[in-house]
Amino acid sequence: MEVVVPSGLSTDLRDYIDKRCAKRIFNGIVVEPEKISKLQEILKVVNASQQNMQITYVPNASAVTGSTIARSIKNTQHALAIEVLNSSKAVRPLIDVQMGYLGELVVLELTKLGLGSVWLGGDKIWYNSAEIRKITGSKLPIPLCIAFGYSDQPYVKFQRKPLSTICPQCPSHQTVNAELINRAPSSQNKQLFTIHFNEKVIFLKTERNAISKVVFDYLTSFLDIGIATAHAQLVNGGKIFVVEDGVEVRD
Ligand SMILES: Cc1cc2nc3c(=O)[nH]c(=O)nc-3n(C[C@H](O)[C@H](O)[C@H](O)COP(=O)(O)O)c2cc1C
Repeated sequence: MEVVVPSGLSTDLRDYIDKRCAKRIFNGIVVEPEKISKLQEILKVVNASQQNMQITYVPNASAVTGSTIARSIKNTQHALAIEVLNSSKAVRPLIDVQMGYLGELVVLELTKLGLGSVWLGGDKIWYNSAEIRKITGSKLPIPLCIAFGYSDQPYVKFQRKPLSTICPQCPSHQTVNAELINRAPSSQNKQLFTIHFNEKVIFLKTERNAISKVVFDYLTSFLDIGIATAHAQLVNGGKIFVVEDGVEVRD
């Protein structure tokens, strides 16, 4: 199963991999309409690249994280809802990979726009899909949300698995690329995959059964792999194929 690489996004997103970190406290400054318009164009490109999911802008999003159990995401003004289209026919793990891959491309575009963001999984705990529906009128499942906006929090390079663990037998000339793939955020920072370089192929291999849940539906190793796929495709170019035990990025 191929995942289409959307054409029309920024060509320099690789440069923003090392500039992104999760931001959980926003400063209340509303993002300028010009940046929101640019974001809407990005979402159009991403959503047109496939028919299984969509990413929707959620304005006035204070209740989206404010009425949750955790309430750890502070002062949210803006959010993105990742929504599943035709959920009864969802092909998994294709959709898991697509949500991670396309969501992370948007996150890197937000970073390029000078905005902070945080991926959120776990409806009612970290974000509230009912509040999102009140704003957007959506009836679709919303398994993931991304809060974004201006944040005064500093850049923190959150720890990852050592390269020796996540990329066993990493060729020395690929360590820079492997480190960039290793910067991919993952649910609870669990990084449930390994990275393998083989000639011109990057293989991201699941460390779990295909779509076994971490806790919530859709918080799967293939979602993590989808996010890492965005980084792998940006460093290596090429096409993206979902295979039985992972994702291949190759010519
Ligand atoms: C799919 C996904 C779901 C996440 N859910 C949450 C969440 O619900 N709450 C939260 O505070 N962080 C959440 N995160 C953020 C991660 O905890 C964070 O990205 C990770 O610890 C790595 O840190 P970094 O993003 O600063 O590199 C999530 C990340 C991903 C990829």
